[in-house]
Amino acid sequence: MSNVILIGFMGCGKSSVGRRLSYRVRKTWIDTDKLIEHQQKRSIKDIFAMEGENYFRDLETQCLRILKKDRERHVISVGGGLPMREQNQALLQKLGLVVYLRVKPETIMERLKHDKKRPLLQGDNPKEKIQKLMQERGPVYEKVADVIIDTDGKELRQIVKEVQEAYCENISH
Ligand code: S3P
Repeated sequence: MSNVILIGFMGCGKSSVGRRLSYRVRKTWIDTDKLIEHQQKRSIKDIFAMEGENYFRDLETQCLRILKKDRERHVISVGGGLPMREQNQALLQKLGLVVYLRVKPETIMERLKHDKKRPLLQGDNPKEKIQKLMQERGPVYEKVADVIIDTDGKELRQIVKEVQEAYCENISH
C-alpha cells in the first residue's frame, strides 16, 4: 500500500482535502509545512525571514527523506513550492501516488489576495506574483502527478471522493 501525496498551488485545498481524506482512508494526515513548523518550533514566515527560502527548501527535502523511511503509510500534503526541486520530484514519485489538485488562477487570486501568512505573496501586487508562479509551476505539477483533479467549482466532499477513488483504483492494481 502506498502513500497518497497531494500537490498543487498555495490555496488549492491540499490541507482540507488531506485532512478529510485521511479520515476516509483511515491513515494519518501529514502536512510538510506543519511538520517543518513543529520541528523548527517557529512559523514558515519566520523561517523565511530569518533563514531565507533556500534553507526552507532544504527542510522540505529532508522531510521527504524522513517520510520515505517511514514504514507507516499516510496521506501527505506538501507545500506548493516543494515539487519544484528536481530531487524532490524523484522523492515524491517514490513516496506514492501523487495527486495534483489543479485550480484556475482566478480562483487562487480570489482566495489569497489578502493572505498574510505566505512569504512568497507578500509585498506589492500579489496577483502578479500568483500569476507568474502559477505559470512556472503548472507544467511541473502536471509532470510530477500521477493523477490530476480539476477542483474549480467543486465542493470539498466531491474533491475528496475523487481523490479517494483514484487512490483505491491505484492500490487495487
Ligand atoms: C509555498 C507554499 C506554502 C509554504 C511556503 C511556500 C510555495 O505552502 O510551503 O509558504 O512556495 O508555494 P501551501 O502551499 O500549503 O500554502
